[in-house]
Amino acid sequence: MLAPLCFFALVGLGSYWLGRALRRTPNLGPVSAPRVRLVPAVRPPLLELRDVAKAYRDRSGAVVPVFTNLCGSFAEGEFVAVLGASGRGKSTLLNLLGGLDAPDAGALLFRGEPVPFSRPALLARYRARHVAFVFQSLNLVAHLRAAENAALPLLCTRVPWDEAIARAQPVLARMGLSGADRLPAELSRGQQQRVAIARALLSNADVILADEPTGSLDPALARNVLSRFRELVAGTGRTVVMVTHDVALARRYCDRLVAFGRNPFEFGRDSDHPADEPTAPQAKSLSLRIGTPRV
Ligand SMILES: Nc1ncnc2c1ncn2[C@@H]1O[C@H](COP(=O)(O)OP(=O)(O)OP(=O)(O)O)[C@@H](O)[C@H]1O
Ligand SMILES: [Mg+2]
Repeated sequence: MLAPLCFFALVGLGSYWLGRALRRTPNLGPVSAPRVRLVPAVRPPLLELRDVAKAYRDRSGAVVPVFTNLCGSFAEGEFVAVLGASGRGKSTLLNLLGGLDAPDAGALLFRGEPVPFSRPALLARYRARHVAFVFQSLNLVAHLRAAENAALPLLCTRVPWDEAIARAQPVLARMGLSGADRLPAELSRGQQQRVAIARALLSNADVILADEPTGSLDPALARNVLSRFRELVAGTGRTVVMVTHDVALARRYCDRLVAFGRNPFEFGRDSDHPADEPTAPQAKSLSLRIGTPRV
């Protein structure tokens, strides 16, 4: 009597649970945790050229175009070498990036915002806050001693005189420069060049624009200087754009090489280089990366 009852009870319970299981709504996961897709914020490049054109007028008034439709960008924490034959527009490019010269057409963006070329006060602020130059012509102050010249960016930001000089001296010493108390006229061209480099290294600028900064240095000193730039880029995330003719050094120390091709009005295009121009197989495009520097 009890056995059939138990049998029917078990069958009833089983079919009940089976029915529930089949009717159960599919598991959609915890309701309290909405699915959020994390999209990384896209940071604009530090500097971006958009279809920039630049031409000069010679003394007869004729237009001398340097480039048209120049496009490309420089990221934060990047050490970029700019290569190309003499007269191709490398210094012109640095002058544009640094706000010393205005493009005739197109735009230069700094962190996504147009550099205000038509507003002199804002442009001066852009230059003072964000850019440091190592000029091809060096531009040292003749009546200031080496350490004082190097310390200028600190003195301009009201660091006390003694402290500024004390901070400049080891930077000069690391580049093998003794005689920090000498005037520029008492220094060789290579020594002057290191003072100009120290001045840029001591600035707080986001980008250093260095125009052939190792042109007067022997190979060991050139490597020393590029190591200093490399350290700065790696240690502070700042950007260095360096014009150079030394492809081997550029490949060793820089993150990226860009080159002016055969056509002087194009930047970063492929093309073979004339026989007298340093060739860099990797230096083809403004956006081409050459991998990790071997330092
Ligand atoms: N102020 C100027 N007035 C007229 N032409 C200029 C001026 N500055 C530069 N140029 C011309 O623009 C072109 C690019 O000059 P730029 O100084 O940028 O060349 P570069 O690539 O830096 O050369 P280098 O390797 O010799 O320093 C050259 O043809 C030059 O003659
Ligand atoms: Mg030049």
